[in-house]
Amino acid sequence: MKTISKAVPKLDHYEKISGAAKYVCDLPTKGMLFGRMLRSTEARAKFGNITLPELPEGYFFYDKNDVPGVNKVQIVLDDTPVFAEGIVEYIGDPIGLLVGSDERVVNQLLKQIQVEYEVLEPVFDPRESKESFFNVNIDKGNIAEAFANADKVYEEKFHTGLQEQAYLETNGLIAEYVDGKMTIRGSLQCPYYVFGAVAQAMGLENENVRIVQDVTGGGFGGKEDYPSVLACQAAVAAYHSKKPVRIVFDRHEDMIATSKRHPSYCTYRVAIKDKKVIGMDIDVLYDAGAYTTLSLVVLQRGVIGAAGIYNVPNLKVRGEARKTNIVPSGAFRGFGGPQTFFAVEMMMTHIAKDLGMDAVEFKLQNAAKQGDTTSTSGRYHFPVPIPAMTEDVLKASDYYNKKKVYQNQTGRYRRGIGASLVYHGCGFTGNGERDLIKAVVKLKKSKDGMVEVLTAGTDMGQGLFTTLNKIVSSTLEIPMEQVIVALPDTDMVPDSGPTVASRSIMSVGNLLMKAAKRLKEEWIDGEAQLIEQRYEHPDFMIPFDNDNFTGDAYPTFSWSVNVVEVEIDSLTGFIKVIGAWGCYDVGTPIDEQIVMGQMEGGFVQSLGYGMMEKMEAHNGWIRNSSFSDYIIPTAVEFENLHVMLHVVDYPNGPFGAKGAGELPNVGPAPATIDAIQNALDTTLNKAPFIAEDVMNFLREVK
Ligand code: MTE
Ligand code: MOS
Repeated sequence: MKTISKAVPKLDHYEKISGAAKYVCDLPTKGMLFGRMLRSTEARAKFGNITLPELPEGYFFYDKNDVPGVNKVQIVLDDTPVFAEGIVEYIGDPIGLLVGSDERVVNQLLKQIQVEYEVLEPVFDPRESKESFFNVNIDKGNIAEAFANADKVYEEKFHTGLQEQAYLETNGLIAEYVDGKMTIRGSLQCPYYVFGAVAQAMGLENENVRIVQDVTGGGFGGKEDYPSVLACQAAVAAYHSKKPVRIVFDRHEDMIATSKRHPSYCTYRVAIKDKKVIGMDIDVLYDAGAYTTLSLVVLQRGVIGAAGIYNVPNLKVRGEARKTNIVPSGAFRGFGGPQTFFAVEMMMTHIAKDLGMDAVEFKLQNAAKQGDTTSTSGRYHFPVPIPAMTEDVLKASDYYNKKKVYQNQTGRYRRGIGASLVYHGCGFTGNGERDLIKAVVKLKKSKDGMVEVLTAGTDMGQGLFTTLNKIVSSTLEIPMEQVIVALPDTDMVPDSGPTVASRSIMSVGNLLMKAAKRLKEEWIDGEAQLIEQRYEHPDFMIPFDNDNFTGDAYPTFSWSVNVVEVEIDSLTGFIKVIGAWGCYDVGTPIDEQIVMGQMEGGFVQSLGYGMMEKMEAHNGWIRNSSFSDYIIPTAVEFENLHVMLHVVDYPNGPFGAKGAGELPNVGPAPATIDAIQNALDTTLNKAPFIAEDVMNFLREVK
């Protein structure tokens, strides 16, 4: 392992474990107004009169009429209103905001507000929705010919459900308007997204908007778009009341009103000849919820990954995101990948079973290799170490032996073992980095030789500040103490892009390494220096065509192999994970401990997705909106978890690193369901699969 990979204590470790770190809800509240949202109680309705109780002095209600700029939140397409305009589209849709100095009074007043609704027919099932938000298609090779030449064609449908990011800290922000300048601070992932949204909604010039990240207790994609919505709302109140306005959600509000992982419905038709996949014809349908938010980009990743890690010469994918009247789904670690990877991994296991082959053997036979074309007719330019990684994981888990033993079980306890082979495309899709983000980073050296790292990158627990410090201090060959990475403030830092798509290490880190190399060359003792570095598109990439979805969707991919072993109690339905193994190729780890932590955390989050976390929007209501009825895994659930790294240098990343954070969230869920179907001696096609599903299944087969 390289010297840089050697673990150091995380820079924010002490302040977080000691409780010294200040999250937005820890900041003094003196002189501030508390805000609570008036939310729709109808899934779809026109609304007219809003009757307010008499508001005491210093209490205010704001709605669409009070938005000084554009009443739309800038995301991808600007259809999400800051406050609803005469129509509400989901239960929880914000209509207005009540603010005042006493939180309890605000809550009491809120209950007395009456809204006149004219209820409209809602749509909850995307398969019945007539409103298409986005279509993304892939057409590679000759699909008709492939199906005509097939020995056998398999067809199956798959479904995945909602998932809640369940970050420890709920969404929360403070907006303050002083001397014509709007400052927003709080829990967020992407300062410059919030910046653009607030400027547009408030009709303010850029120099009059400032966004500051406070210590953030997790985001997992859930704070990629949502803080933009909340910031616009809080800004409206701060603007008119001329007081700082603080909005911090309780868990219930966070769970009903903020983004989730998109539910999916996929139909696969697969053509097989001589035990090889020669064609896949796939329909991918994502339930976007009420507004478009990030659905286009989430869907793109889902469509690109729909053929899995396999070399599929003839491929057709019809991807669609449709509107329903539930809370909008958005980004969630894996960003559209986990849904289709689940489907394709299950499909492949089912085909293998029918062919009388072991699933892993069948998958390896069809896996892409370096130099093969990708689903978008780009190329796998770099090594695909899947075979070696598979060997390691199968050995560590004793996969083949267990698979042999775990057959035709009839007792109370039944065991199963399953595997998945997946990738995650590194960085933004297509030309995003070049055309949309255009990242800029700066290094600012003071006279005394301290070096400040200036990027918009946020640390949400993934260790980014430590990682960026290591990249810069190692390049400059100076101690870490001589490098400063602070919470980003748009008044100080350039727009290096959002902290999403696991792009920070590979994209932002690489720019910082280049900047540091230059600073090292140009270093002058005793002088203040400023180095700016701009994004350069890798020239080896096959140009991406956004209309036809062809070319290199990503410069490179991170790879992983996962095995999960379960024991099912057929009396209670309880599924216990008795072993879990994952191997990850994320390039060179910048900090081994941080990367291992990312892999373990992502693995556990995906196990939750596979076998625990069932979220239901019953008639549009999120029924389980607390952690006592939306159950997420904790440290005790999966004690026998083993993650390992397969280190291959990525030549275009800093010190050989590439995308890491999301990869471990893609594979464990399909491996878990594979283990469950092995234990139950059946084929399964939905995630999550929880105790209740086990009971229903056992009842049916009796
Ligand atoms: N790890 C922690 N502890 N908390 C988080 O919120 N977010 C994940 C991942 N790991 C997250 C996390 C998501 S969704 C992404 S996109 C990446 O971190 C972003 O960080 P990176 O670009 O530094 O990898
Ligand atoms: Mo991560 S879902 O790209 O914020």
